[in-house]
Amino acid sequence: MKFFIDTANLEQIKEAQDLGILDGVTTNPSLMAKEGISGAEAIKQHYKTICEIVDGDISAEVLSTTYEEMIKEGEELAAIHPNIVVKIPMIKDGVKALKYFSDKGIKTNCTLIFSAGQALLAAKAGATYVSPFLGRLDDISTDGLNLIEEIRTIYNNYMYDTEILAASIRSPMHIINCAKIGADVITSPLPSILGLLKHPLTDLGLAQFVADAKKLG
Ligand code: G3P
Repeated sequence: MKFFIDTANLEQIKEAQDLGILDGVTTNPSLMAKEGISGAEAIKQHYKTICEIVDGDISAEVLSTTYEEMIKEGEELAAIHPNIVVKIPMIKDGVKALKYFSDKGIKTNCTLIFSAGQALLAAKAGATYVSPFLGRLDDISTDGLNLIEEIRTIYNNYMYDTEILAASIRSPMHIINCAKIGADVITSPLPSILGLLKHPLTDLGLAQFVADAKKLG
């Protein structure tokens, strides 16, 4: 399973990269705004910087919502760096845009996926990735993991190449459960990734080993 980090924060991206387990980065307009990035040129420069830190797929989301504008914007984003993946919302014009970019060999990530039907349409349109939002479904008392399972079954049935990129991850358990189901990728904030490291028995065991190592001289 591939690990992407879901942030536009350069320090956190560097920290995950230094850990040696990072396969890519996802961003969205909210995450960019959180970092105080604004203006077309600043946004492009930020994506360029991320691409220089991480050698993997970097999702850059279009800000527009009409077919023509998404094509123009997506082509500009794709021109920033070969690793840019154009992130497109799951709307009617978005499905058309996915097909356009797929035909041109430009990678895409279809975002805001909340149903199996949406994921099926995105795969038909040739999306490279689909991003089902696990945590936001859980937030409204709907089983987000169940959606990941449904999409896995559908994609397996027809051998779609589209990769399931589980998004809106809120905890280390989300990551583990996605791995059990067979999501191709998870994109997560740094704390949930680091949460996978933790176990009190590891800490206790290491403290004992360190203490005993001193006796060895
Ligand atoms: O990047 C899309 C997704 O991961 C957003 O997550 O936490 O805002 O629901 P969240």
